[in-house]
Amino acid sequence: MIRPFQGMVPKLGSRVFVPDSALILGDVTLGDDASIWFNCAIRGDVNWIRIGARTNIQDACCLHVTNGKWPLLIEDEVSIAHNVMLHGCTIRKGALIGMSTTIMDGAEIGEGCLVAAGSLVREGFKAAPHSLVAGWPATTKGPLTEGQRKLLGSVWARYVRYKDAYFADGWPPAEAPTIEDPRPGFAEGHPYP
Ligand SMILES: CC(C)(COP(=O)(O)OP(=O)(O)OC[C@H]1O[C@@H](n2cnc3c(N)ncnc32)[C@H](O)[C@@H]1OP(=O)(O)O)[C@@H](O)C(=O)NCCC(=O)NCCS
Repeated sequence: MIRPFQGMVPKLGSRVFVPDSALILGDVTLGDDASIWFNCAIRGDVNWIRIGARTNIQDACCLHVTNGKWPLLIEDEVSIAHNVMLHGCTIRKGALIGMSTTIMDGAEIGEGCLVAAGSLVREGFKAAPHSLVAGWPATTKGPLTEGQRKLLGSVWARYVRYKDAYFADGWPPAEAPTIEDPRPGFAEGHPYP
């Protein structure tokens, strides 16, 4: 389900996959070939959310933001595994966030990082590029091994193929709704509620 909120309409790139059970609402932008999987909630109602090209958000993820303070930025070629909670944080290009992880406001996961499954990343935590972050609460374990780097590259590329396989099987590419008087988003001056 893709819904406007207060005149802000989600903006979708080309060949984006969004099944009906996922909710995308308000000031949300998705890049080309992004895929959002079953039962995700992506709620751009009190700040903006940007999701890059070829990024996948796997099943049952919850993405939200903090009013007037923390938007959510996820760059290109990122994998967000099943059941992840992302709130008001920044995920740089090519990172992989392992299953059932929580990442809180103001945290920044650097380019090409791997956050291990089941981690809790505290508010404002900064992860240097290409590092392994793990634990509850999470700490930086050090630079990624060769095997871990390969895992990062393989997952996002696989998910581009997976969503193309769904299109080939008859699932339609996502389309944004059209409304009469669309309004600009939070970054362009939409008032915070
Ligand atoms: C991180 C991961 C890749 C394991 O990598 P690995 O190379 O086998 O790592 P190691 O077992 O050598 O662990 C390295 C360190 O991280 C810690 N660690 C690894 N996985 C961890 C986890 N899930 N939670 C907490 N700590 C973890 C280890 O205890 C070790 O810590 P130490 O150096 O203090 O002893 C794996 O645990 C993981 O989380 N994979 C992500 C799976 C996923 O969500 N895939 C997406 C589905 S498409």
